[in-house]
This record gives sequence, C-alpha cells and structure tokens, in this order.
Amino acid sequence: MQINAGVITVSDRASKGLYDDLGGPAVKQAATDHGWKVIAEALVPDEKREIQRAIREMIAKGCQLVLTTGGTGVALRDVTPEAVREIAVRELPGFGEVMRMESMKLTKNAILSRNLAAVVDRALVICLPGKPRGAVECLGFVVGAVPHCVEVLQEVPTSC
Ligand code: MTE
Repeated sequence: MQINAGVITVSDRASKGLYDDLGGPAVKQAATDHGWKVIAEALVPDEKREIQRAIREMIAKGCQLVLTTGGTGVALRDVTPEAVREIAVRELPGFGEVMRMESMKLTKNAILSRNLAAVVDRALVICLPGKPRGAVECLGFVVGAVPHCVEVLQEVPTSC
C-alpha cells in the first residue's frame, strides 16, 4: 500500500530561523528512499501544543505515518515524547528499544534519546532524534516494521 507520510521538525532555534532545518529534509529524503510519499512537512518549536497540532493536522491531511525529528533528548525543552504520549492511544515500545540498542553501536549518547513510536488515531508516529544523521539512522533501524504496522492500523475492525 502507498504510505503517505508527514515530517515534523521540532526545534526552537530552527523554527525561529536561527539555524537551517537540516533534519526535516534528511528525514524527508529517507522517507522517499523507503518508498513513502511525503505529503506534508512542518517546522515547530519545542512546544507540546504545537507538536500535537502539527501531528493532528498531518493525520487530517491523510498521513498514515508521521515522522518527527528533534526534542527527544534530556534538555528541559525536549518535550516531543511527552507531547506524543499525551495524544497517543498506545505506545509501541519496541521501536524505541531497537532505536536505542542499535544506536548504541554508533554512539554512547544513544540512550540520551527518548525516541519512541506510538499510535495517534490510526497513524503511526515515530519520534526520531534531532541530528539529521541520527534521525536517518534510527528510522533505518525500524523501517522493516512500518508497512505492516501501517496496514494493520488502517484495517476496519471487524465485529467478531
Ligand atoms: N542516535 C543515533 N543513531 N545517532 C545519533 O547521532 N544522537 C544522540 C541520541 N541518539 C544520536 C542518537 C544524542 S547526542 C542525543 S542528545 C539524543 O539522541 C537526543 O537527540 P535530540 O535531543 O536531538 O532528539
């Protein structure tokens, strides 16, 4: 099935124009390389309500997959995990576990990322680190589970 994806960069400084958003374009390119159609992009500050609004707007536009990059770290302003958990119907812990374990092979700072995946409405939301390379690496570690997950989330529940 064709997966429509949205990409959200979460960054105070990039959203203020203080530095270029490199993560968003890197994740968009990776999503395209994985065969998904990126139909929406957004750049928001590290604010829970803005992150939540961007996710909901993308789902309303038809995204079955939303990829965020940034705000998963230990800094006080890093609130992406909290923002997503507040509106999620469930978290998919295996995504974060694998992203951290595989990333540990690349950087000892891997465990500083609270990256995760969760279900919001019927969309799969994957929260990636802010560094472009880190975001693309982490997406690559979990890409194999995305098609089936998205497919199952689109299924209309049959009355048993
Ligand atoms: N994971 C991978 N694969 N590659 C990386 O470069 N950066 C780490 C970690 N996970 C990194 C990674 C670092 S330095 C931090 S601070 C955390 O991701 C959180 O990053 P964020 O605050 O930009 O989301």
